[in-house]
Amino acid sequence: MVRERIPESREVEEGTITVFSRVAGWTGYGAAWRVRAIMAQPFAAGDLVVDIGTGPGTIPLHLQRFFPEAVFFGLDVAPAMLAQARYHSRRMAVDLPVLCGQGESLPFGDNTLDMAISFFTMHHIDEPARLLAEVDRVLKPDGRFLLIDFRRDMPAFIYHAMNTFWQLAFLLSPGRRGLMESIDSAWTPAEIRACLAANGLSRFQVNQSRTELLITAGIKKFEENPDDLC
Ligand SMILES: C[S@@+](CC[C@H](N)C(=O)[O-])C[C@H]1O[C@@H](n2cnc3c(N)ncnc32)[C@H](O)[C@@H]1O
Repeated sequence: MVRERIPESREVEEGTITVFSRVAGWTGYGAAWRVRAIMAQPFAAGDLVVDIGTGPGTIPLHLQRFFPEAVFFGLDVAPAMLAQARYHSRRMAVDLPVLCGQGESLPFGDNTLDMAISFFTMHHIDEPARLLAEVDRVLKPDGRFLLIDFRRDMPAFIYHAMNTFWQLAFLLSPGRRGLMESIDSAWTPAEIRACLAANGLSRFQVNQSRTELLITAGIKKFEENPDDLC
């Protein structure tokens, strides 16, 4: 029996931004390395890639280093997060244009982007169909998409272990009780599959690991072998 979803009811926890940004400064490289392994397809010169819910921007900043031929943008609803993205951009001496906006209303024209990515942001979104329809609109017909987030129906022992680890990591940060709010507000793979079917969003594919939900489009790895997660 899957627990009912409890919306986060806020876009970002203001009290944790600095700590989150510091942690992301260390973890961004690992996440970008994993994304590079999952994509395993090169970009063409000038390909445009948006990171929806970029937060401190460390993932697209490292991806920009891995793929200098592409142009990465960070988009986030929280100006304080974008300030952190600018800080990391200066620190890493990598250019990352950032935009303030919502994933459900992307500031791009139809069929303009080569790729959209989004990490650990979908649980903030109460109407996933709106975000996915926007991604469908802005992506070129052969555009790629990679979204990773928690899944609410992860095993209970992992849920509690992750929450405890997070509480320790964020011990000094006010306003954060752990990771449980994020996981409780996350979507299950079954809910996303139903949402895609109900809205005729046929380009997307749903994959899952024990703890994560992945929504993809045009990623060869998953088209060829849907169970091969890394
Ligand atoms: C948990 S953080 C993840 C940040 C980054 N992707 C990472 O993995 O390090 C989620 C981010 O999503 C942003 N966010 C929340 N709701 C959003 C929305 N509707 N549109 C765009 N960004 C949003 C928050 O401001 C926050 O920066």
